[in-house]
Amino acid sequence: MIYLDNSATSFPKPICVTNAVSRAMKIYGANPGRSGHTMSKKSGLEIERARQVVTGFFGAYDTKNIAFTLNCTQAINMVIKGILKPGDHVVVSNLEHNAVMRPIRKLEKINYINFTVANIYPEDFDKTVDSFRNSINSKTRLIICTHASNVLGFRAPIERIAAMAKIYEIPILVDAAQSAGLLPIDIKNMDIDFLCVAGHKALYGPMGTGILITNEGDKLDTIIEGGTGTNSLTFCHPKEMPQKFESGTPNMSGISGLKAGIEFVQKTGIKNIFNHELSLISYLYDNLKNMKNVELYTPRPNKDFFVPVLSFNIKNYTSDEIGKILNSNNIEVRTGLHCAPTAHKIINTLERGTVRVSPSVFNNKQEINKLINIVSKIN
Ligand code: ALA
Repeated sequence: MIYLDNSATSFPKPICVTNAVSRAMKIYGANPGRSGHTMSKKSGLEIERARQVVTGFFGAYDTKNIAFTLNCTQAINMVIKGILKPGDHVVVSNLEHNAVMRPIRKLEKINYINFTVANIYPEDFDKTVDSFRNSINSKTRLIICTHASNVLGFRAPIERIAAMAKIYEIPILVDAAQSAGLLPIDIKNMDIDFLCVAGHKALYGPMGTGILITNEGDKLDTIIEGGTGTNSLTFCHPKEMPQKFESGTPNMSGISGLKAGIEFVQKTGIKNIFNHELSLISYLYDNLKNMKNVELYTPRPNKDFFVPVLSFNIKNYTSDEIGKILNSNNIEVRTGLHCAPTAHKIINTLERGTVRVSPSVFNNKQEINKLINIVSKIN
């Protein structure tokens, strides 16, 4: 089986991750931060070690800035619903995932907020920043931008949008679901207020892991309250991070696996992983480009403007039909809308979707050649 659906979730996971998960099930079996006994303390220490690894990897100010979540969607919802007040205005990009657009649309529908869409222009960072600047008004309380599109691979100039937002004193939420582990992210240097991360994609952690990283947790109201293992006498939910955002029993083995995944990325080298994947996607692009019935939607992926994700179609087929043929040849890709209809609106594929190829560090050229072969036969 050739797995090329790593933008949905990476597979296989590195051995160090599967080992860490299994080890956590065996030795971190008690609830962290809930009891004073030895095993509970051991579990708590492992979570703190994971927080340290995340802090270092993303250049956060403090381990207290790290809240482990169920996934990136949960982290995004925590920020959107935690910060916005009635009458607020939000700027979102035209490439946002439903993780952003559904909560935003829901708040808009109940007349709680309104929003403006700014454009990410492929390979034109100046025009992109201008579009965000022009979308701001006096009521704008949040800018939301994906770091990289999960459909087209376009990257947004996050540092520049954040720098512009600072001038207007507007916080920025960055959806790093597709970039964390592939592009260097330094929350301090890039001036990111809220970084939302998926643990199970390019960080190679288990599914059911995500992270919210922020030094401004006090600006957010909570959307979930509950037991934190601290100050149990009071019914008031704690105001301090990370407890504020981590009610209930955490995903102990998942967090331990995520820590191992980040360490794997650090050891392998984020640049090496990116270059390897981009060379596979560029090779695929060059081969598909010569097939007369294949439709591509982007310029050739350039390292400064793209992450390694490629969408395509074949004339007279829906993306699902191509996906089925590939699947019957043991090649696994994602087809359809990829939960991001906004991106499909731009390339006019709302009806048929696209076939999306997203490699990981574990794929190789022979596998891409097999894919090229099958596409060539359909073509
Ligand atoms: N957001 C994930 C994807 O792009 C699931 O496939």
